[in-house]
Amino acid sequence: MGHKIIVAGIGPGGDDFISPAARHAIDHAKILVGGRRALSQFAADDRLTFPITADIDAAVDFIRSNVERDDVTVMVSGDPGYYSLLDTLRREFDPSIIEVIPSISAMQLAFARAKMPWHDATLLSFHGRRPPDAELFYAPHRVLGLLTDGSFHSQSISKILLALGWAPDTKIFIALRLSYPDEQLIEMTLGEAAGRDPIKHCVLIVGGGDDD
Ligand SMILES: C[S@@+](CC[C@H](N)C(=O)[O-])C[C@H]1O[C@@H](n2cnc3c(N)ncnc32)[C@H](O)[C@@H]1O
Repeated sequence: MGHKIIVAGIGPGGDDFISPAARHAIDHAKILVGGRRALSQFAADDRLTFPITADIDAAVDFIRSNVERDDVTVMVSGDPGYYSLLDTLRREFDPSIIEVIPSISAMQLAFARAKMPWHDATLLSFHGRRPPDAELFYAPHRVLGLLTDGSFHSQSISKILLALGWAPDTKIFIALRLSYPDEQLIEMTLGEAAGRDPIKHCVLIVGGGDDD
């Protein structure tokens, strides 16, 4: 019988925003792959585990050799469909053996915390990449939802947007540590964010103020 690679989202980090279906799959997994934080959060002692590090090839090799004998459950942060290892797994394995279980994305939770709809927002990622300037243009009432990383953060991204014509008084929400007890949603202007210390690994929501 063929075995499956189950890609389960774990939400932004805290227990509240992992879906019950993902939690069930993780609880019943015999073989678990995930970041070290996720493994320490979810992996019981009797599981076979493998940590995802910068060496993605090693994780793929582990999955390939173990899926021959049992299902392998891969934990990814947020929702698997939104910037996760799912892309790589679809390239490396036949999608017919992949099952995807959604959870809440950090992007969804950031918009919820800001009490803003995201159906008209432009969602872009600065995580390990820089979107082309053509996607970052200013237009009246345009709203951007942005993933960040350690290099592209609240300060550097604000400077990029100011250089591309966004006004210094544009509203920006900086959502960090979403779903954890020390979660914060900080509201300021782009001009202020450009001049302050960087806030990294957060979600930025730019625009959407009355005048933006
Ligand atoms: C590689 S992306 C993964 C996105 C994930 N698949 C999702 O749906 O949320 C990682 C980025 O997501 C954002 N992120 C993930 N967890 C977060 C959290 N708890 N609070 C704020 N931002 C978070 C940050 O921008 C981080 O650098």
